[in-house]
Amino acid sequence: MQHSSKIYVAGHAGLVGSALIKTLQSKGYHNIVTRAVYELDLRCQSAVELFFEQEQPEYVFLAAAKVGGILANQNYKAEFLYDNLTIATNVIHAAHRSGVKKLINLGSSCIYPKYAPQPLKEEYLLSGPLEPTNEPYAIAKIAAIKLCRYYHEQYGADFFSVMPTNLYGPGDNFNLETSHVVPALIRKFHLAKLLSAGKMAEVERDLLMYPVGFEVQAATWVDLLGQLGVTKDCVTLWGSGMPYREFLYVDDLAQALVFLMQNHSYKDVGELLNIGAGIDIQISELAQLVKKVVGFKGAIHWDSSKPDGTPRKLLDVARINTLGWQARVSLQEGLVASYAAYKNPVALVHNIVSHAEKCM
Ligand SMILES: NC(=O)c1ccc[n+]([C@@H]2O[C@H](COP(=O)([O-])OP(=O)(O)OC[C@H]3O[C@@H](n4cnc5c(N)ncnc54)[C@H](OP(=O)(O)O)[C@@H]3O)[C@@H](O)[C@H]2O)c1
Repeated sequence: MQHSSKIYVAGHAGLVGSALIKTLQSKGYHNIVTRAVYELDLRCQSAVELFFEQEQPEYVFLAAAKVGGILANQNYKAEFLYDNLTIATNVIHAAHRSGVKKLINLGSSCIYPKYAPQPLKEEYLLSGPLEPTNEPYAIAKIAAIKLCRYYHEQYGADFFSVMPTNLYGPGDNFNLETSHVVPALIRKFHLAKLLSAGKMAEVERDLLMYPVGFEVQAATWVDLLGQLGVTKDCVTLWGSGMPYREFLYVDDLAQALVFLMQNHSYKDVGELLNIGAGIDIQISELAQLVKKVVGFKGAIHWDSSKPDGTPRKLLDVARINTLGWQARVSLQEGLVASYAAYKNPVALVHNIVSHAEKCM
């Protein structure tokens, strides 16, 4: 990949996409193509085909998807399957038709069976039933992995898939209904800290800046937060706190994706490759860590009536380590950076907007 190569980042405004743009630019790549969802809805096959025909990108990172936590996966099952399936089939097929040199498809560790042995090796794909709470998402992701593989086998396309573990970082989704665990923890502890300090103007600003997601009827901000499990003394969190999860800082993932695009192909990667930190942490311990980073002094209550999901999910990252990449940012460092970015979203939006202006 040359610095002048035309690179299409699908999903450039998302958590992964925005980190990828930042990393590509920092490495001197300057011919990056992006489209906002209102300009190009990747679920629309004819629009996607026209886009590839006109733009002729040489390299593609497929990081556009409908993404969310357990609750969103449960509430929007049809969209999680339909959107992710159509985005993947449209982009991969159009990339093949227009002669894209290399495509990296973003999958997820959710594709592995619920009771697969830990740590999860790439070969466990399709070796058992999936976790029911994210089955629609996983099925769409598995179809995309197979599509890349079959375009490689049938036509020699250099299209392969990577399975990142749980990601977090600047640009995360802080909507409490659809967010993943790390941004949900950061936001809940931050709001509880503001309540305990009586900083109601800052509470109001936060609630106006980031959507809450849930349809909650409340007379005051304090009532509203109480219904979401946030008070000045205590934060209520979903589940038992017992499961173990692995977390990767999104800039580490972006480094891995660019490294793979520069140095590797389907021949050495195979149909899928795990990308993770290689270590996991119990959710209750993660909650304590986030609480400390945010500076909330109150209690944590666990609501065990809510689902936990898979008991443990740790990726085996031996293969990507052998290819020459490993994670660098510690969880503590990543959480500090994520909290800072959450409190200053303007800087992030500025980066995305200034990139979009350069592309016009
Ligand atoms: N986040 C994680 O923990 C995680 C973990 C493992 C794997 N992954 C994978 O990494 C990839 C990126 O995830 P992410 O966390 O960056 O998600 P994200 O922050 O939600 O970003 C997804 C991006 O896709 C775009 N998009 C969604 N539907 C679209 C459509 N119909 N047409 C065009 N663009 C569309 C979104 O645009 P709008 O912003 O305009 O909606 C957004 O920019 C996904 O494939 C995901 O499965 C994520």
